[in-house]
Amino acid sequence: MSPDHEFSSDWLSRREPADHAARSEALLEPLIAALPASNPLNVIDLGAGHGSNLRWLAPRLQRPQHWRLIDRDPRLLRAAREHARRDPPARILEIETIEADLARSDFPWLMDAALVTASAWFDLVSADWIEHLAEACAAARIAGLFALSVDGRWRFVDARGDRDQDSDDAFVRSSFNAHQRRDKGLGAALGAQAAEALPRILTAHGFSVTTRTSDWVLPAGSASTRALGGMLLDGWRQAADEQRPDQSDRIRHWHERRRARLDLGQLGLEVGHVDVLALPVA
Ligand SMILES: C[S@@+](CC[C@H](N)C(=O)[O-])C[C@H]1O[C@@H](n2cnc3c(N)ncnc32)[C@H](O)[C@@H]1O
Repeated sequence: MSPDHEFSSDWLSRREPADHAARSEALLEPLIAALPASNPLNVIDLGAGHGSNLRWLAPRLQRPQHWRLIDRDPRLLRAAREHARRDPPARILEIETIEADLARSDFPWLMDAALVTASAWFDLVSADWIEHLAEACAAARIAGLFALSVDGRWRFVDARGDRDQDSDDAFVRSSFNAHQRRDKGLGAALGAQAAEALPRILTAHGFSVTTRTSDWVLPAGSASTRALGGMLLDGWRQAADEQRPDQSDRIRHWHERRRARLDLGQLGLEVGHVDVLALPVA
């Protein structure tokens, strides 16, 4: 993510395989059982980016669907449309993209939706924003599947998969987590606290809520770990630096140590996320 809160297509493409491997399949059965019989099924994807959530979820919903992808970034929505043209997801009747700023939304698209979904989204928003969404979904009795909210846990592992600690991992992690709470245009961002706030707020609005971990597991030595892990480490360094400019040498040295071992294939990473299913109670 850039300092002006834009997400590059390159970053979203790089993380997509790790996202897809991490997501909870266990939430699908209760979701499918609870969805109304409407045909097609109307699905709304909030902060859809270039369509990663659609590519994972649509083939698993087992019936004809109409998706609306909502995002403020027209480049990412164009990439989503192009991807869908090249490689149409099974069972999709129609994909609509809507360019909109969700900061100012009263969710008009929820009206005829059966399912609202999002992935890698809730760390950006405030607790008030979730309250507003939960209220709208509860009033319309819409189910929610919200994947891949970071929960602030990450750890390095060595080539055997055992924990590998550096004396400054905790310092950088807490600086990064503090940076994530800066306002991204959707109120005071929850950052890693979204993983706890999201199920709590949905439960308070009467939903039956189930949570599953969906951690990225990036083993040491693979090409994808080097590429995705390298981008992660660079992003953590930049955010920690912006949060603690007084500690920039310490952060740079930490980054050099961790990056060198990652590039040599000696380090892997595990990054904590949660998936949340929210079903209206009958
Ligand atoms: C971390 S990306 C996740 C994208 C996608 N859901 C995925 O899993 O690959 C967050 C997305 O939220 C979008 N976004 C951020 N702030 C937004 C806002 N205020 N309104 C609409 N979209 C926003 C970004 O453009 C980006 O596509």
